[in-house]
Amino acid sequence: MRLLPSKKVAGEIAVPPDKSISHRALMMCSMCSGVSVVHNLLESEDTLRTFRIISELGGGFKGDFDRLEISQASWKESSGPLYCGNSGTTARLMAGVLAGKRGTHILFGDESLSVRPMRRVIAPLKEMGARISARQEDSLLPMCIAGGELNGCDHSLSVASAQVKSAILLAGIQAEGVTTVTEPHCSRDHTERLLQSMGAEISVLERRVEVRKSELSPIHFSIPGDISSAAFLIALAILHKNGAVTVRNVGLNHGRIGFLKLLTSMGAEIELEVENSFPEPSGTILARSSHLRGIEIESGFIPSMIDELPLIALAGTFADGVTTVRGAEELRKKESDRISVTVQNFRKIGVDIVEHEDGFSVEGPQRVTGGKVDSYGDHRIAMLFSIAGLLSEEGVEITNTEAVGVSFPGFFQTLEEVCR
Ligand code: S3P
Repeated sequence: MRLLPSKKVAGEIAVPPDKSISHRALMMCSMCSGVSVVHNLLESEDTLRTFRIISELGGGFKGDFDRLEISQASWKESSGPLYCGNSGTTARLMAGVLAGKRGTHILFGDESLSVRPMRRVIAPLKEMGARISARQEDSLLPMCIAGGELNGCDHSLSVASAQVKSAILLAGIQAEGVTTVTEPHCSRDHTERLLQSMGAEISVLERRVEVRKSELSPIHFSIPGDISSAAFLIALAILHKNGAVTVRNVGLNHGRIGFLKLLTSMGAEIELEVENSFPEPSGTILARSSHLRGIEIESGFIPSMIDELPLIALAGTFADGVTTVRGAEELRKKESDRISVTVQNFRKIGVDIVEHEDGFSVEGPQRVTGGKVDSYGDHRIAMLFSIAGLLSEEGVEITNTEAVGVSFPGFFQTLEEVCR
């Protein structure tokens, strides 16, 4: 796919539903007795992995992803290994769910997911009494879970991770006693909000969450658009000389809008309007062409913009002065090593960028001349370099663009709508 410079970027768009909330809605509504109704679920490769796994385990789904009725799954033993594809959220959160269900289950994933760290969920779940074993001394998929009785435990995470926190909380609501999780910095709180709305015994005090064994009650709600998908269009509008984009019905959870706050402190013109609050704040974002200043990102900010950090390298390329991301070693453990892949690809399109063990620095403003890059099968890298192509002088050719289907099916159509 070749993305050529665009003259103008303008329009009003909707982005696909939030991926994180969609996974949680499928899992948690399948854990509660009674029928939940969820509107606007993301139908993408990642969320279909969760949907198919729960269906295989006796899930009760009626309708389609625009309006899905979800009843309690029977949680029968699976007849074969359960495929999580590229989806870390599926593997890690399902480990927490299955730790408390009877039966033996095997979770496995694609080439990328098979090298992503799993000990971070396996170790705390084992402490709660789960019987789990996995490849390379419990560190990599496939993992085998023999679910059963669990006990509450007090966990202190060394890395802020919503996936690990959620796995523990989903096991915690099935465990005897009290389960607590404390994070070094706050990560996204979609699981906590849904647990609260579904009547679980949960209390949250800043970075510490406590749950007790709980029966969940059904819920009726609609999922807003995904801010992490909107981020690509917002960056395009801001960095383009002639850009203005309005994104409607998008999630504005405080744990997800670090990117918007950071761009604003770099000088970006962004307007936010919160229109709904249940079960998550959501509303409209307006972003237009802006002149940016370089910035140094504080590590406490990182969890609230973890998936948007590679886009900051692009913003830094257009900003005056140096932009530095440090303390983001977690980026090396995503769908690809996002530090190495971002740096390599930027160099291939003519950008001078410095790689650090835990981040990168880029001094702007620089010209993005163009060239040929690979997505390395990572959806967010494919989208980042598509945006770079539209902002480049000669265009960017990207291989393996089908990866966008993991989170943003229709990404290229949306680009066609806004690029004139
Ligand atoms: C996610 C949490 C983040 C994020 C991922 C989705 C979630 O991962 O990168 O895309 O849905 O909880 P970590 O929790 O591992 O940081």
